Amino acid sequence: MKLRDMMILSFLSSSLVVIVIVWFSIRKMYLTDQDGYLIIAITILANILGAALGLFLLRNTFHSLNKLSKQTKVIKENQFTKIHLQHAPKELQTLAEDFNEMVTALADSFNALEKSEQDKSNLVAQLGHDIKTPITAIKNQIEAIQDGIIAKSEIDQTLNQMAYQIERLTALTKQLMEVSIMEKNSLKGPQNKEQKIWLDQFLLTLLASFEYILKKKKQQLKLEIDAKVTTLITDEGKLNRILTNLIENASKYSGEQTTIYLKITAVADRVIFSVTDEGSGIRPEDQAKIFDRLYRVEKSRNPETGGSGLGLYISKNLAEQLNGRLEVESDFGKGSIFRLTLSTEPEKAMPV
Ligand SMILES: Nc1ncnc2c1ncn2[C@@H]1O[C@H](COP(=O)(O)OP(=O)(O)OP(=O)(O)O)[C@@H](O)[C@H]1O
Ligand SMILES: [Mg+2]
Repeated sequence: MKLRDMMILSFLSSSLVVIVIVWFSIRKMYLTDQDGYLIIAITILANILGAALGLFLLRNTFHSLNKLSKQTKVIKENQFTKIHLQHAPKELQTLAEDFNEMVTALADSFNALEKSEQDKSNLVAQLGHDIKTPITAIKNQIEAIQDGIIAKSEIDQTLNQMAYQIERLTALTKQLMEVSIMEKNSLKGPQNKEQKIWLDQFLLTLLASFEYILKKKKQQLKLEIDAKVTTLITDEGKLNRILTNLIENASKYSGEQTTIYLKITAVADRVIFSVTDEGSGIRPEDQAKIFDRLYRVEKSRNPETGGSGLGLYISKNLAEQLNGRLEVESDFGKGSIFRLTLSTEPEKAMPV
């Protein structure tokens, strides 16, 4: 039954009770029949007027309830409109405020879901392209060898190019697996394998892996370590992956014959790893975005500097997993500094 009908029924029943009571009272009062009928008529009239006035005063309440019901229905069609009930009773206004809060939360979740769906289809489209490029290059080179287009003397060089393309594919696959593990664990990633590491040994292994790419671009890497830091308790694998990504970028986005500086300093209970380059630098408006998944400043996927825009996204996440933080400071056209700050007490969250 509708609320309005319930109200009318309740007015009618209360009027009936009043009329019956008045009728019995009149009979005890020795009044003439005419006066009795008059009093009954006045009572009925008063009740009708009372009911009409009550319904008139409640019209805003009925209107607000209808509005609320309509707005609730359109949520199904993903229309997240807020409701404003100015003349409604206080309780309904509070209900409208709660409703609006719920609508905001629903709209936020819906937008986040839509964005994540969009991100996923972008990821598939871009990675499809990144995977197809080296595979097409390898396929063309194999066909060229099979058709005898490539001279025997050039085969070694072609094989080297093929090995480079395969390396790109392997690196991309590794990154993808890392992103997939991170996102499956809602960005927390696998547990840290904390251990005491000796920095000199750690850096020796790390820097050895860059010998080839630095030589190719005639770049130098200068190392500066604060004598106070000899050991550190952290997840060696994660630290290695962050610094590898940073040094790789420093080399990739800098010209030939430039210098890259890796500086390790101790400040209070923190250790700071900074990677400085003399490269292209990053515009202020791009600085916050480079840590986003798939973001690349240079939109064209140039095979020379080609990457997928996953390196910094993974690195920032790994830094957070180590309870640390990764930041950038850059001067466009001059170079960049990427700073990784870790706590010497890794269990403690890093204050902002
Ligand atoms: N040292 C740097 N100097 C200038 N630009 C940089 C530097 N490091 C990163 N960038 C910019 O930030 C973008 C994102 O870097 P990120 O490492 O995430 O991806 P990528 O290098 O393009 O690909 P990959 O996934 O192979 O690392 C790069 O495309 C580049 O435009
Ligand atoms: Mg990179």
